[in-house]
Amino acid sequence: MQLPFPDALQSIPHRRDVPFARLTTLGVGGTCRWLFEPVSEAQAQAFVRACAREALPWRLLGGGSNLVVLGDVPLAMRLRLPGEPRRTGLELHATASFGHIRLSLAAAELGLSGLEYASGIPGSVGGAMHMNAGAYGRELVDVLARYRFLEADGELAEKAPEPGEFRYRWSVLGAGRVALGLTVRLAEGDPQRIRALQADYRARRGTSQPLSRRNAGCIFKNPPGLSAGRLIDQAGLKGLRVGDAEVSPEHGNFLVNHGGASAAEFAELMAQVRARVLEAHGVALEPEVEIWRPTDGITG
Ligand code: EPU
Repeated sequence: MQLPFPDALQSIPHRRDVPFARLTTLGVGGTCRWLFEPVSEAQAQAFVRACAREALPWRLLGGGSNLVVLGDVPLAMRLRLPGEPRRTGLELHATASFGHIRLSLAAAELGLSGLEYASGIPGSVGGAMHMNAGAYGRELVDVLARYRFLEADGELAEKAPEPGEFRYRWSVLGAGRVALGLTVRLAEGDPQRIRALQADYRARRGTSQPLSRRNAGCIFKNPPGLSAGRLIDQAGLKGLRVGDAEVSPEHGNFLVNHGGASAAEFAELMAQVRARVLEAHGVALEPEVEIWRPTDGITG
């Protein structure tokens, strides 16, 4: 079948009409009309270049664990770069498609310390780079030695992070760039002690976060010096429900899907939480999750 896209895209693996319920951990959203899944950096580059040339709007999907999709999306790319992490001395190299938790576990097996904080953070390595993922006072940039990416025009680049390029749940990769892979610099450690720390972090998450229900992690960023979860809790919003979408009774900054929630219900619940926290505390919460609205523009 001929695609309504340039020739350059024909040879890249792609699927039609994939529900975002299957592409995101929250399990809501419309349909991804065309999902391109490059299996090499060259295919990813061809995709980005062709879309830039033709001014085609598209979106970049990772593991879908920090994403709320509020409608249909015409065109998206999700990398499927193959390959296991490779070790060089104290450095570990991984592709953006590799699992973030799996990378943390691989480091433990190799006796490399520094990625323990990541042992419970789902998603892809690319998503972790995009968001500068973190927990327990550590974040990816703390161990990031180099990162590899495509510029918005498709040009390949690799560099060491510079000050300001990775901040709290934000990175320079957001602006239409595509994370391709990274090198982390770790420290030698005892695999047993690393695994024990990972188990401790996972246990702490298990007791404070509603991990048995579909969720997208923390929904709002922590305002400087404050905890969004505590503000939501203190405003009495735990258990607030719109349809099957609920503010988790376990952790105020988690919204959970009881099974049949829709994207519109999550949007409504987020708006209610935001308005009531503003009313109760005078603090305007900013989303920590990425939100895709049907009217949104090109890459992101
Ligand atoms: N708290 C409440 N009520 C709640 C939730 C929390 O009173 O409903 C209190 C806790 O008792 C604690 C404080 O708020 O005193 C902080 O809570 P917690 O330790 O759960 O951490 P957090 O600030 O809510 C942050 C990250 C999490 C990360 C944890 C652990 C953000 C937005 N959240 O949560 O990251 O797992 O620290 O390091 O930065 C995510 O990014 O998706 C995420 C979940």
